[in-house]
Order: sequence, then structure tokens, then C-alpha cells
Amino acid sequence: MEIIIGSEEAIGERGADLFSALLTARPDAVLGLATGSSPLRIYDALAARVRAGEVSFAQARAFTLDEYVGLPAGHPCSYRRVIEDDFTSHVDFAPGAVQGPDGTAADLAAACAAYEAAIAAAGGIDLQILGIGTDGHIGFNEPGSSLGSRTRVKTLTAQTRRDNARFFGDDVDAVPRHCLTQGIGTILSARQIVLVATGQAKAEAVAQMAEGPVSALWPATALQHHPRVTVLLDEAAASRL
Ligand code: GLP
Repeated sequence: MEIIIGSEEAIGERGADLFSALLTARPDAVLGLATGSSPLRIYDALAARVRAGEVSFAQARAFTLDEYVGLPAGHPCSYRRVIEDDFTSHVDFAPGAVQGPDGTAADLAAACAAYEAAIAAAGGIDLQILGIGTDGHIGFNEPGSSLGSRTRVKTLTAQTRRDNARFFGDDVDAVPRHCLTQGIGTILSARQIVLVATGQAKAEAVAQMAEGPVSALWPATALQHHPRVTVLLDEAAASRL
């Protein structure tokens, strides 16, 4: 695990460098995208590079990490919509190149299996970007998640629902109780991972991830087993290391 500490701007550029290097070497790379505030600087830096003609996503494909269950398509908080608003509509992906788990499916288990099959058919994920929850979750793999898990339905913890209520007009009751998420095993199958964390609220989770014993109680500790992880932190998120 390589840990890099810098300003939010430096983190954004450093993360964008990883994507640019991959896309230069392999324009048809398969990317793993995350929602949340953590990757936004990287996404903004990448959009600027696309506008400058320095990098292109035209041949790339992407899979998102997770999705709420039951939000109608087009709901402003559905991760399908959020990733479009925050990133994919600002770069040059081809139509249909970005997929996410289907939280509106009648058969959620079948949707999860289909999602795993789609990732496998694409050849697996070359570079996965991750944030981290204050409780150490990655994707929506909450504490207690099996470290070998694949895409499946999960129940959100009260803590995560409180953390995410800010996106739902501060109404915790509006936050869905269930989600679909790539499993920890799915995430670990990516060939390269970059995790971004900023702010004091992430400091404990970051310290556990990097220095704690590998345990399902802190799901991000599973990343210690991955051979190619870059962790981008600001000073506050790094303050308990
Ligand atoms: C959310 C998402 C995660 C995200 C995390 C942190 O619940 N499911 O994918 O990484 O929580 O979010 P943020 O970056 O906004 O702090």
C-alpha cells in the first residue's frame, strides 16, 4: 500500500495521473468508478484533461461500485444519476459505456449475478477508484462483510444512512435501507486500486485500513492484501497514522 499525503488539489492531480497513465497505455481500459465526495477532485482534473485533449475515455468502459435499492431511475440521489452528474457526462465516454448495478430490478440477486458476469465479460477492472466510509466501508461493504464477498444486496448501517442523509435534504428517513454493492472480493479483483480520503472524519478508518489487523470489522483493511493500492490522503485524513 503506497500512501501519499498532500493538498486536495495535489490529490486530485495525482489520482488523475493514474487514470491518464492507464488510458495512454490502454485506451480501452476498464475502469471502476465510485460516487461520493472523495473522488470529485480527481474527476474534475480528468474532465479538464479531456477538455484539453490530453486524455480520452472514448474507448474505455466503466463499472460503478454500488447503488441504492428502490430509487427510481433518474432520482437525483441514485448513483447512476450521481456518477453522470459528477463525472461521466463531463468526459467523452461512448453511449452505454458506463454500467452500474440495477437497484430497481425485480430480482435483485439475479441483477447482482448479471453485474458480476458483465464485469468478467469485460475482462475485469483495470483501475478501481474508492472512497472510504467513516466506519471503514468500501463500496457499501459495511462492517461484518465477508472479505471474499461478490456483488450482492446489503443493509446499510444507521451510521452510513446518517452520513449520507446530507444528499437527501438531511432527511435520514429518505435514505434507502438497502443497496447493491460490489463485494470486497470483487473490489480486490481489480488489477489496481486508488483510494481517496479527506477530512478528520475519515482519520480513524484510514488508520485502521493502513495499520490495523485485517478484519471484517473494518472492511477496508482487506486492501492490505492487494498488491497495487495507492492511498491519497489530505493531512486531516492522515492525522491518526
Ligand atoms: C458512500 C459510498 C462509498 C463512498 C463512501 C464515502 O456511502 N457508498 O462508495 O466511498 O460512502 O463517501 P464520501 O466520499 O462522500 O465521504
